[in-house]
Amino acid sequence: MSNPKQLSVQALQWSGHSLKVLDQRLLPEQIRYDEYQDAAGVTEAIASMRVRGAPAIGIAAAYGVVLSVQQHYPNSDWQTAVNQDIEQLAASRPTAVNLFWALDKMRAALASNPAEPLTVLEQLAIQIHADDTAANHAMGERGADVIGDAKAVLTHCNAGALATGGYGTALGVIRSLHKRGKLENVYADETRPWLQGARLTVWELAQDGIPATLIADSAAAWLMKSGKVDWIIVGADRIAANGDVANKIGTYSLAVLAKQHGVKVMVAAPSSTFDFSMENGDAIEIEQRNPKELLPECYLQADSLVNAWNPVFDVTPAELITAIVTERGVVLNPGQHGVRSLMP
Ligand code: MRU
Repeated sequence: MSNPKQLSVQALQWSGHSLKVLDQRLLPEQIRYDEYQDAAGVTEAIASMRVRGAPAIGIAAAYGVVLSVQQHYPNSDWQTAVNQDIEQLAASRPTAVNLFWALDKMRAALASNPAEPLTVLEQLAIQIHADDTAANHAMGERGADVIGDAKAVLTHCNAGALATGGYGTALGVIRSLHKRGKLENVYADETRPWLQGARLTVWELAQDGIPATLIADSAAAWLMKSGKVDWIIVGADRIAANGDVANKIGTYSLAVLAKQHGVKVMVAAPSSTFDFSMENGDAIEIEQRNPKELLPECYLQADSLVNAWNPVFDVTPAELITAIVTERGVVLNPGQHGVRSLMP
């Protein structure tokens, strides 16, 4: 079985017996798919950021569970082996709740179908993948409705097809706006230190014929001051019940700057990104990555006096957000009432 919706850029391709992962560390210079046949490989692909972006991580993990069942079933004790693989997948990255959401779904399906796990789990993973793409299209249209006639937007990190099942969350809204013909400029932050904006977002938009303008992260305040952007549109890794949003480091600074300059802030995310067990964003675990990802080579010796602090997400308080858009609906001014109205 193949993925249901073909798009110009696909982060993940399921072959029926392996998962092909576009190595996003190599983009835009090189387009290379690595093929994984077991959950350990998929775990490594997530931890090393070959695949990244909250929804894509969840989808990859779901396929990882399928690969685990294919590897271990029907050996004696196959369930123990699969559960160990699920634990390993869950430990790959901490912040995006979509990972745990997808693994919980796979675990529940496993528990209720122990006699026939192969087909059921494969169908569920494919469904999770297809549902995410469909959710992106729905939120793209909803987000474009909210934004209406804006001429220019700024996005951060990569919340596009590369980060999802396809189409994208923030980039889904931008794609839908572009189709409506009103959008004149899409600005993208470089997004240090991984450069998801510079390497992935502008490349992905260009693949679809959408012109984009790259800025240094530190140019965002001046861009807003110059009146060149109407909205900031970002994705999310976890949204708490009060509407606080964890997303790529730098999102919080953009939201603070937006308030100063009268720019609106939209967060676009599928419902798999909501964590209603968290009242607010205070308890969200913020992934700290290796200081080596930030430090120039010359500071890597053991006796170096230079270290780095490398949190890769931050939490934007709900009161700085104008709209949270999902496939289920939109919450305007989430700072007033939170997002429980979107609870299933
Ligand atoms: O570290 P990354 O690249 O996985 O971080 C990705 C982001 O922060 C995205 O904005 C978020 O996951 C939403 S993707 C639709």
